[in-house]
Amino acid sequence: MSSASQVDLNKEFNFTLRDFDRIRGLIYQRAGIALAESKQEMVYSRLARRLRTLGLTSFQAYLDALERDSDEQEWEEFTNALTTNLTSFFREEHHFPVLADFVQELYTQHHQPINIWCSAASTGEEPYSIAMTVCEAFGTLSPPVNIIATDIDTKVLNVGAAGIYSLDRLNKLSPARAKEFFLRGKGAQEGQVKVRRELSDLITFKQLNLLSPSWPVQGSFDVIFCRNVMIYFDKPTQGKILDRFATLMKPDGLLFAGHSENFTFVTNSFRLRGKTVYALDPSGAAQRTPPSPRI
Ligand SMILES: C[S@@+](CC[C@H](N)C(=O)[O-])C[C@H]1O[C@@H](n2cnc3c(N)ncnc32)[C@H](O)[C@@H]1O
Repeated sequence: MSSASQVDLNKEFNFTLRDFDRIRGLIYQRAGIALAESKQEMVYSRLARRLRTLGLTSFQAYLDALERDSDEQEWEEFTNALTTNLTSFFREEHHFPVLADFVQELYTQHHQPINIWCSAASTGEEPYSIAMTVCEAFGTLSPPVNIIATDIDTKVLNVGAAGIYSLDRLNKLSPARAKEFFLRGKGAQEGQVKVRRELSDLITFKQLNLLSPSWPVQGSFDVIFCRNVMIYFDKPTQGKILDRFATLMKPDGLLFAGHSENFTFVTNSFRLRGKTVYALDPSGAAQRTPPSPRI
């Protein structure tokens, strides 16, 4: 495929460079996702399923209908198809002891419930890892913690809210942890595990587009996890999101980023505290509306 008019005859559907560019523009506008030029095959295979389901024969017909009909349901399918949802329990493990120490220290100082926002929660492994960590830190299945888990992708949020995984997803967990926080399926559910009710009760799953001008969450957060999603956004988009995070955080809050995400030159709102964990930068505070104080 080298020009708008050239079509790969081996493909089931007509897919031109123009179609690809159009898709890149639409997903960038809608979700902030900046797709690299190399992602043509990925885009083709992910959206070909939609064309098949809808009985369409070309990408052009699909994109024309998408833009013409403004069907929110199809826009959701389009977005869900193009997100990358790779995640795992206790991914980037080094963050979890930092979180455990932080919530313990905070509670000792303030004796107030701790608010945590997991802002690209995918299929739920990350917010459940956060929940397990805080349960262990407080030595109880009902710690003084509220967790909001959000994602743009409605399909992955449903998986997270259901809390059912195949047993092999628990390979990073010690047997003791797996036993404490999961129920093993029997009979027809053999090979599956379900998150214990007490753990899922700590988490509220909600759809939220980080690009949207209004976010259906209310600060102030003690902790924000925003890991392995900023890599899909360009720097100006990253900067805007980070500055908005800053207005929603408690002054002593922490932001956890992904291993390949570096926000140092993107915003003045945060400074690196170590191991891709960021704290609010007091010198960037002048540009922010003050977060609500602890009372
Ligand atoms: C690679 S996963 C990372 C999951 C998890 N944070 C982790 O590190 O394991 C990226 C997630 O970001 C979500 N995402 C992409 N664009 C988004 C946006 N504009 N707003 C909110 N979530 C978005 C995707 O749906 C996907 O579930």
